[in-house]
Amino acid sequence: MRIIKTTDYENMSRMAANIISAQVILKPDCVLGLATGSTPIGTYEELVRRYDRGDLDFSGVTSINLDEYKGLSPENDQSYRYFMNEHLFSHVNIRPEKTYVPDGLEADGEKACASYNEIIRQSGGIDLQLLGLGHNGHIGFNEPADAFDKETHCVDLTQSTIDANARFFASMDEVPKQAYTMGIGTIMRAGKILVVVSGADKAQIVKDAFFGPVTPQVPASILQFHRDVTLVGDEAALSLIP
Ligand code: F6R
Repeated sequence: MRIIKTTDYENMSRMAANIISAQVILKPDCVLGLATGSTPIGTYEELVRRYDRGDLDFSGVTSINLDEYKGLSPENDQSYRYFMNEHLFSHVNIRPEKTYVPDGLEADGEKACASYNEIIRQSGGIDLQLLGLGHNGHIGFNEPADAFDKETHCVDLTQSTIDANARFFASMDEVPKQAYTMGIGTIMRAGKILVVVSGADKAQIVKDAFFGPVTPQVPASILQFHRDVTLVGDEAALSLIP
């Protein structure tokens, strides 16, 4: 594993954008696995700046996102499709039909997961997977569990996640209770993995995930078995690394 320590969030974002830019420049028809959450926002901003300067061309790129809330439409501002449009897709020349996010409106979980697995298979596999890290070690919506889930699956959100999301919705009924997520097997088959972490609140889980035992109770710990992982973090997030 390569570890790149930066002074702060801004430099972490620039460094992560460097790695994604290199991927897009060296393989213009690459498949990028993308994440939502607060950590990659600066990375996406930086990629948009580079696109605006004429340094990046996304016209050949395919993107496949990690996850989506079940029941949310692309127009819902809490959906991950909306997030991706807002932070990246609407600002660069990626072809909209080449951007994939699980279909939150597909009520049939088996169908939604099977068709996402098929999209991933037909893409030829992910060249570079961008990941954030949850405080409990989750990647995508792969939460701590007794076993690693390999392929796309439907997850029951924990009550704490449902409660935390409640503030974004008009009523409790509208708060998603389930989500679709790419599985650990798909993530592990990506050619390269880029993990971004920022802030002191991530320091303990960074240490546990990358220097502790490999266990499905800390889903990101499986990344210790991947042959090409780059961890980019600011000093605060990497402060407990031995
Ligand atoms: C997002 C995702 C999540 C986040 C994780 C960290 O698509 O899959 O696993 O990466 O929850 O989120 P932040 O970056 O908000 O700390």
